[in-house]
Amino acid sequence: DTVYLADYAPFGWTVEEVHLTFRLSPDATRVTSRIRFAPNPEGRQDRFFLHGEQLKLIEAKIDGAPVSPEVTPRGLTCDVPDAPFTWEAEVEIAPAQNFALEGLYMSNGMYCTQCEAEGFRKITYYPDRPDVMSTFTVRIEGDEKVKLANGNPVDSGAGFAEWHDPWPKPAYLFALVAGDLVNHPDSFTTRSGKQVELNIWVRPGDEDKCAFGMEALKKSMKWDEEVYGREYDLDIFNIVAVDDFNMGAMENKGLNIFNSSCVLASPETSTDANFERIEAIIAHEYFHNWTGNRITCRDWFQLCLKEGLTVFRDAQFTADMRSEPVKRIGDVIDLRARQFREDNGPLAHPVRPESFQEINNFYTATVYEKGAEVIGMLKRLVGDDEYYKALDLYFARHDGQACTIEDWLAVFEEATGRDLSQFKRWYSQAGTPRLHVTETWEDGTFTLHFRQETPATPGQPEKQPQVLPIEVGLIGPNGDEVVETTLLEMTEAEQSFAFTGLGARPVPSILRGFSAPVILQRETDNAERAFLMAHDTDPYNRWEAGRGLAKQALMRMIAGGAAPDEAYLGALHTLLSDETLDPAFRALAMALPSEDDLAQTLHESSMTPDPQRIWEKREEMRDAMARWMPDLLEKLFHAHQVPGTYQPDAGPAASRALANAALSLLTRLDGGEKARAQYASADNMTQQLAALSCLLSIDAAKGELAAFYDHWQADRLVIDKWFSLQVAYAKPAETAATAAALVEHPDFDMKNPNRFRAVFGALSMSPAGFHHASGAGYELLADWLLKLDPLNPQTTARMCAAFQTWRRFDADRQAMMKTQLERIGAQQDLSRDTSEMVSRILGD
Ligand code: ARG
Ligand code: ZN
Repeated sequence: DTVYLADYAPFGWTVEEVHLTFRLSPDATRVTSRIRFAPNPEGRQDRFFLHGEQLKLIEAKIDGAPVSPEVTPRGLTCDVPDAPFTWEAEVEIAPAQNFALEGLYMSNGMYCTQCEAEGFRKITYYPDRPDVMSTFTVRIEGDEKVKLANGNPVDSGAGFAEWHDPWPKPAYLFALVAGDLVNHPDSFTTRSGKQVELNIWVRPGDEDKCAFGMEALKKSMKWDEEVYGREYDLDIFNIVAVDDFNMGAMENKGLNIFNSSCVLASPETSTDANFERIEAIIAHEYFHNWTGNRITCRDWFQLCLKEGLTVFRDAQFTADMRSEPVKRIGDVIDLRARQFREDNGPLAHPVRPESFQEINNFYTATVYEKGAEVIGMLKRLVGDDEYYKALDLYFARHDGQACTIEDWLAVFEEATGRDLSQFKRWYSQAGTPRLHVTETWEDGTFTLHFRQETPATPGQPEKQPQVLPIEVGLIGPNGDEVVETTLLEMTEAEQSFAFTGLGARPVPSILRGFSAPVILQRETDNAERAFLMAHDTDPYNRWEAGRGLAKQALMRMIAGGAAPDEAYLGALHTLLSDETLDPAFRALAMALPSEDDLAQTLHESSMTPDPQRIWEKREEMRDAMARWMPDLLEKLFHAHQVPGTYQPDAGPAASRALANAALSLLTRLDGGEKARAQYASADNMTQQLAALSCLLSIDAAKGELAAFYDHWQADRLVIDKWFSLQVAYAKPAETAATAAALVEHPDFDMKNPNRFRAVFGALSMSPAGFHHASGAGYELLADWLLKLDPLNPQTTARMCAAFQTWRRFDADRQAMMKTQLERIGAQQDLSRDTSEMVSRILGD
């Protein structure tokens, strides 16, 4: 059942308009459709096929006359006239039995939908593909107080509501919500003076958690007008919070649906990190209105067309709202943790994949985050002015269309006069390029010699050189910048760039701003790293130099049994003491490379990572950090307390991040005294959770953990944190047992993806615990993936990715992971989602 990009053919009919009526009922919702089809002059097909899954067909008519289509589990075929015709069908579905959370389902008594990518076919028979676009008119009948659909409201009365969406859209953007919801209303006036009604709809009791999301929405609307010239295009914009949701959120036209964890926020219940993420996701979904909805994808292989671009846009937004370097550093940490791991293992795939079995398995870090990096490289290469010129052309030319990466690149070629044929390899070649650098110095000329190579990935043994934008600056021996940031454009496998007329040999600052998503391989020493950490004018590379020092020090501890490096500790002390530096930047500098990052690096150097040892050495380093600078930590902790009422803004959040980073080290020295005091006095979740984490890290949180539960037991999102923290902070030998005990807790509910991820996401993201030599982590995760698969294939399949690194490890661990993967693969009636993931991970 593999689908290929190369097989694309347009649908044989166009859809002129769609009318839907829903008569809601938990176990027997009736959906009637009336759809105007016409033969598509550009896509003749022999047989009329409509997707449809898990539908009970009650009746079907063509031009008013009953027909008897041939029905299979995937859809129906039917003889149709060779002229425009009206299709009518009535189907029955059972939203209360839908635990896959795809199509129309129920969450806490409320009806909601998730149609991307292919969920609409579980609602009614339809050509469920993104290149079929139509206007929709929707009538909802039911007793629920609130009944919402896409577009503008046209009519409502006792027991019904009608909506009309004038913008043609593919079915994946369809949405319906009905329930006894309450709203947080507001409004926005667009720059051309149009009043837009805004609402965030939530369950009663959550009204006080909407204000922040609403502000984020208004900021996003304004930002898209100012930066991209994009205005909103309906009279109303609704956001709904739903507790049971597979992903973060969904950009349905005029009716965004959010996982409640990605929209509900209050100082008491949300951390600074939650606030920042909510702001970014609200922006992301809003920005999709132009990059995704007005211009959509021709087919699902083009997913990065909307996702890469929209992630790039939301990152620009966050950088503008908060700190640009801090956002960039955070994104690179995330890219290396998730996308590099994917790109360097069995799940590697191009930003635009060429085949799939289940498209839901391709909502990946590669499509999203590497897809955004590709846009970032394009922008660097063409420059800001040309970038926005190309975007204007893209919107002007393709508004209302379902497009491809070819369309996107053609716009850039036309607007900028560049040939992007080589650049296009970023979309087709999987794998992370390695960029090797050496330098020579002679007669005032400093030359950088680059060599790029990309390792083989599944299905792609050979790789061609890619276009690499490499931003470089040179720092003179006295610490002054002698060459400002310069963009080198590498196109060959090997290429050198010379800088002439220099008085003394400079220190190069390479790949500033992480200008290309590559692994930089360069022989350097700690003196040079410390020099850059002190003098680089590029904040990203300044951070990177510090991270390089930390990584070297840890690698020597892990691989060679060295003691914690005093040069690193000294350099960190200097950096942390510099009060001119953003506290958020210093907090980032204090964080060590993750266990997984270290495992990845060891594997890259042909060593077998031992997760337990990595964990121990990181702990040892953190102890050493605490002992090396207790006075400084104490000072940072006190100096960065934020007085007054909690504000989620970047400024105070940065101070809290630094103070709490200091607190977590101080906790190793004071037995938790300060953390306990902070826990007791905290009036916001950031401070409370930071303190609780500190106490958990020294296994001294018993009382606080119980008190936390008692206090927050009615708050689902806070209790998710309670579940996940216990797993995250368990000692490696106890991680699996902790998770196993938590699933016995009455509040554990495997049907709720947030709760399932709270426990099992935390398990798979605790490398030493998950990979514990007993194999208990592997077995427990496999047990629960097998239980979840029949209910929710999407979430199960995503979480299988925990096993993707299996080939990095020693023979015993490999064998144990393989056994579990094979056990999952052998399950009767395993979903297509999970079976595709398991077989890709196993490599068969
Ligand atoms: N388009 C959504 C977003 O990025 C993600 C929805 C993905 N859903 C899925 N079932 N694959 O904002
Ligand atoms: Zn998106």
